[in-house]
Amino acid sequence: MLVDFRPHARLRSRTSPVTVEESLGPVVGALGESDTDLSRVRVVCDWVQYKQNFRDVVEVRPILSSTPDAPLPEGVRDDDLEVAVDVRRAAGVDLRATTRAALETRETPDVVLEDWGPTRESCIWGFNALYWTALEQWEKATGQAYEQALPGGESDARNHDAARGVIRELFAVWDGLADRGALPPELYVVEIGVGNGAQARVFLDELRELDVEHGRGYYRRLHYLMCDYSPHVLDLARETVAEHAEHVSSFVMDACKPRSVLAFLQFRVFLIYISNVYDNLPTDEVAQLGGRTYLVESRAFLPAADAAEIAASVNARPDQLGGLVHALLRLGPTLLAEARPDHVSSPEDAVEFWRRTWSAVRLAERYAGLAGLDTYELSPTVNGEALRPLLESGADVRMHVSNGAVASFTETIGLLHPFGKLVCHDLFARDVGAYRTGFRGPGKYDGSVVNWVNGPLLAHIGRRRGFDVSYAPFAHRTGTNIVTMTAQVRD
Ligand SMILES: C[S@@+](CC[C@H](N)C(=O)[O-])C[C@H]1O[C@@H](n2cnc3c(N)ncnc32)[C@H](O)[C@@H]1O
Repeated sequence: MLVDFRPHARLRSRTSPVTVEESLGPVVGALGESDTDLSRVRVVCDWVQYKQNFRDVVEVRPILSSTPDAPLPEGVRDDDLEVAVDVRRAAGVDLRATTRAALETRETPDVVLEDWGPTRESCIWGFNALYWTALEQWEKATGQAYEQALPGGESDARNHDAARGVIRELFAVWDGLADRGALPPELYVVEIGVGNGAQARVFLDELRELDVEHGRGYYRRLHYLMCDYSPHVLDLARETVAEHAEHVSSFVMDACKPRSVLAFLQFRVFLIYISNVYDNLPTDEVAQLGGRTYLVESRAFLPAADAAEIAASVNARPDQLGGLVHALLRLGPTLLAEARPDHVSSPEDAVEFWRRTWSAVRLAERYAGLAGLDTYELSPTVNGEALRPLLESGADVRMHVSNGAVASFTETIGLLHPFGKLVCHDLFARDVGAYRTGFRGPGKYDGSVVNWVNGPLLAHIGRRRGFDVSYAPFAHRTGTNIVTMTAQVRD
């Protein structure tokens, strides 16, 4: 049996200490009582810091044995299952009984919402997209604005010092080009994932003000492009920046496919500005366990007890919930109320159904052997081989692939002017070791999904395309996990 105790720093924590005996002892005890082959088990302990998440305190994850496509290589461990424990919540439960129950087949079946597949294809991303498109209805029901769920309760995108720093660097580039007669007449800045427009507002206000001092008429030439996949969010942002309307255009665009809308800007964008978006884009996870590479496959489900309650609240049987959930994700709450009045009689009822379902939804996981990294498509232009240096960097590791962020990043850096840069404030794992010691998602932020972004992977991919990619802690707030990534063409 292998034990991987990731949050080892908590063993010495003064505020929330844990012990190996309490968090592991009962789990190993329950395994010993079962008929599990103990030589083929991994036990992993995490500290799941997100109060709302997709996990139970104890989970059992099958490790699929070899398939014709992915035969077992010589000399690797061939485990049957992984038992995963959330140490943060373990203290309050009878871990032995919980582990026993997780190892047994449940009598009342959970309500499964989809087939097994790579996590980036899970319906949790449908929930995520629905949150941003129907944000107004969600916020009305919760009485809470989305920013309150972000780290620190407010987006760092509003930070004036951060915006001024970026603008001063832009002015320096523009001055240099203007002095050589090489500054194009139109100065393009693209923001992706605009939320309520606060970031755009701060940037535009500051640029206008600094331009008055600077005196070179850059504000007049500025084109600020706000891009988001949610038309509702774009409406909000447009209102926020109404004062700058002449300089702003907005585009409905999927952040994972920016070229579909922005290809006309190739080599013309001076700044791509992104905050708190990459951590919100679909991602898979891969793992290197005992010398073998796996893709984590997921399946969203509603635990049986929650499903029974939710079903009763919408006059349905538990087995009808899957259909209702998918109708909700397709239609949104207002149209669901029109299409299925027998179950939800008003848009408010539909929002209530949505919130309860989202709160209950969990992800079952299993490990499926990858036939070869080259057979895994990380994004449309990046092959799974890009993961090799990270996966083969030492001990066992499970990490995010950040597929959406990689797709977005690789497409947008191609839009940059040779002196342009991409600036991104987000939750980044800055090295592979971060995955060995901390839980990096997925968690739930209100109605959306959060996963830390694989920083070394983006840096590796950027470097191979001729870009310098650097990371620094967000400089304008202390005690934050937010990191600023900067990417620009290598000198
Ligand atoms: C957490 S908010 C961040 C808003 C703002 N940048 C900030 O930092 O306050 C995430 C934003 O990304 C947008 N978003 C999420 N996934 C997206 C996607 N696939 N394509 C385009 N926009 C997306 C959401 O609609 C939302 O506006």
